[in-house]
Amino acid sequence: MAILEVRNIEKSFGSTKVLKNIDFSLEQGQALAIIGSSGSGKTTLLRCLNFLERPDKGKIVVQGETLFDADDPATMREKDVRMKRLHFGMVFQSFNLFPQYTALENVMLANQLLEKEKPGFKEHKKEIYAQIEEHAKELLDKMGLSDRADHYPHQLSGGQQQRVAIARALALHPDILCFDEPTSALDPELTGEVLKVIRSLADQNTTMVIVTHEMAFARDVADQVIFMDEGIILEQGDARQVIEHPTQERTKQFLSRFAEK
Ligand SMILES: Nc1ncnc2c1ncn2[C@@H]1O[C@H](COP(=O)(O)OP(=O)(O)OP(=O)(O)O)[C@@H](O)[C@H]1O
Ligand SMILES: [Mg+2]
Repeated sequence: MAILEVRNIEKSFGSTKVLKNIDFSLEQGQALAIIGSSGSGKTTLLRCLNFLERPDKGKIVVQGETLFDADDPATMREKDVRMKRLHFGMVFQSFNLFPQYTALENVMLANQLLEKEKPGFKEHKKEIYAQIEEHAKELLDKMGLSDRADHYPHQLSGGQQQRVAIARALALHPDILCFDEPTSALDPELTGEVLKVIRSLADQNTTMVIVTHEMAFARDVADQVIFMDEGIILEQGDARQVIEHPTQERTKQFLSRFAEK
């Protein structure tokens, strides 16, 4: 069964349709890369998945559960959004860490807030916080940052901050980890560092949706690629096939820009 099914999503801002009939699915353990020109709708699509935007039409199904159906108001209750969001871990271009908290505290924070609301928290606070801390330390370790746990964001490089942001997204055990141009704000050396981490997550069969302009990375790491053009999926398929042998003229034009570099 597909872990994620996106069915005929449409989204307009005012009279401009920015997503048209977006339809795809993703299998557990697979990585999907989304490529396309600026303004083609990639971020809007991710924002729809994370309930930051509400699609006008279509359906979003995770693990067989309909999280959103434009025809079913029961799936749109505001109070359910926070829990639904937990299915998706988000990593953005700008890392948005809390400057007043250490790397470790940034990774722990969301889990602490979540646990606080559960019954029995007060009686078991110490054990719960210890577990959260242990898990956060494991994640920082996995990101190669075990010696940076006590550092504040301003003491970290952009690449390190982004790896903290990835650890933070993983801390809530999302079904699907989503990246929106995770390396666009980084210089080439730090880009390599972050791509290496994402690559190792792919090797561990983490289910991921990755918006990226790193074509070689998409070709080598993603299983599937979607090429978006003016709000539609113009081409999709096996990552290597699409990137090395695109069939559509617009995909060829888009990819040729990267080949020249
Ligand atoms: N909140 C909004 N209100 C109005 N228009 C918006 C809004 N968000 C996005 N758009 C428009 O939707 C279109 C798609 O934008 P989006 O940010 O999804 O593109 P993108 O593919 O992520 O581009 P980039 O590669 O530059 O990040 C653009 O024309 C953009 O101006
Ligand atoms: Mg974008």
